[in-house]
Amino acid sequence: MYPEYMRESLTLVEKTRPKRLELEKSGKPVFRPMTAQEREDVLNRFHPDYQPEARRIIRVGPNKGESITTEVADMLESHSRIKPELIDLSKPDYETDILIIGGGGAGCAAAILAMQNGAKSIISTKLRLGDANSMMSQGGMQAAVKPQDSPTRHYLDALGGGHFDNKPDLVRALTEDGPEVVKWLEELGVVWDKNPDGSMYVLHGGGTSRKRMHSCRDYTGAVIMRTLMDEVRNHPDKVTILEFMPTIELILDSRGRCAGGILYNMETEEYFAVKAKATIIATGGYGRLHIRGFDTTNHYGATGDGLVIAYRAGANLLYMDSVQYHPTGAVFPEQIAGFLITEKIRGAGGQPINKFGELFVFPREPRDVESAALIRECLERKNGIQTPSGRWGVWLDSPLIETIEGSGYLEKNFPAMVRQFIRYNIDITKEPMLVYPSLHYQNGGIETNDRCETNIPGLYVAGEASGGVHGRNRLMGNSVLDYNVFGRRAGKYAAQYAKSVSLSKLTVDHVADYEDELKKARIKTDRVAPVLLPFYTPEEVRKRQLTAHYEGTLR
Ligand code: FUM
Repeated sequence: MYPEYMRESLTLVEKTRPKRLELEKSGKPVFRPMTAQEREDVLNRFHPDYQPEARRIIRVGPNKGESITTEVADMLESHSRIKPELIDLSKPDYETDILIIGGGGAGCAAAILAMQNGAKSIISTKLRLGDANSMMSQGGMQAAVKPQDSPTRHYLDALGGGHFDNKPDLVRALTEDGPEVVKWLEELGVVWDKNPDGSMYVLHGGGTSRKRMHSCRDYTGAVIMRTLMDEVRNHPDKVTILEFMPTIELILDSRGRCAGGILYNMETEEYFAVKAKATIIATGGYGRLHIRGFDTTNHYGATGDGLVIAYRAGANLLYMDSVQYHPTGAVFPEQIAGFLITEKIRGAGGQPINKFGELFVFPREPRDVESAALIRECLERKNGIQTPSGRWGVWLDSPLIETIEGSGYLEKNFPAMVRQFIRYNIDITKEPMLVYPSLHYQNGGIETNDRCETNIPGLYVAGEASGGVHGRNRLMGNSVLDYNVFGRRAGKYAAQYAKSVSLSKLTVDHVADYEDELKKARIKTDRVAPVLLPFYTPEEVRKRQLTAHYEGTLR
């Protein structure tokens, strides 16, 4: 239920709807898309990444001297949770072919392909299997399967959206594997939305030149994740799942190859060493760092842990100055602030409307541009609505979709969204949602190639933890595709590598070396990372996790 003071503005939205509907039905553009110059201007002035305080120089590690997102630099310039001089790795607690760090989409896809390629794996996951951003994705997965489309068009769209900073080989892998991934997931059990004739039902996303967004209503991520998790759980002889056991440091061997990790049991506070011939980082993103104070769409455990341990071990990072803010996160009711309102709503005809009932931006600009335009509308033009706690927002006119597509369309195609709001007495088939950009995705990450290899032999990376494929701005639906394409590739190539590798003496000396580097750079800090839990975790839980440094024998 919206408070009384918002009602006047809601009346204006209703008043302008018939005119906007007429325009929509005429087939003409409802609002002129911005020119390249206009896009650049709005980004420079309003996108959070472009503010001078958003970045600083990192003083240690492989990317030393580069300008990166401030909160990420702070996290990387931190102390380890272990005391390396006390660690005895002569008798590891577990041995396996592949250690997979992260139990989301990339981790599960990797485990499936690893087992199909003859390797056994251990999944180390901080929370439960499937507690991941992959589970929360709503709108869909891009893949060029229609006759009027092609992987080449998809490739060009992804490059344009990423400001041409994407690594071409990665985009090629992403877009060429796309059709195969649609088929693979369907064979595993994913029920895609279909047209009455049985063909795939596809929609546009921001920045796509063809409709290629495949979906399962508005819970695409949940359907895919449940399918992948079932497949993983059906093979306990090939995949061991260790829940509530994040990997808090990597292990190398004396020849600098990755050889597993140190795991921390968050319930018992015990530490375990896992020796693995190959290691895959699939830890997802860092939305719970709340960069620049933004709310986030991300799951509770999204604290960028994989970046920290890979960086300490010497892995290069790429595009760590670039963060994605989803244009439409919920701001009211405030219990769900930050919650993702899928771009599919705008793909289906929903429009961002200011407090005067005016459409002020083309609804499907690339995400960074759309977000910057929403911020400008609220902060500069003061045409937004303020919530009781002072958050800004504009309306996302969902009832317009019902008038375009017919009554019942939202209930059928966005059942999760309708239910999410009805809990708070807001019927989105009749009333718009109040939205503002929400921290959504880390565009950059650990540098990788199209075989998911990093610069550390034996260390692979897949999904949001990696950097390069999306350049500096990911398009909608390319992350679901990304974690499937590169999760599969990582599982396959790591399994092949594991067949021939024979590890030498295990060590965590790199952790001590990093500590020396911090000292040399005169960095004085009490920060400890991986962060593991967000800063607003209840004090008694957080304190225990933060003070739990490894100080004795393993277990
Ligand atoms: O808007 C969305 O449904 C989000 C999708 C994505 O980030 O790819």
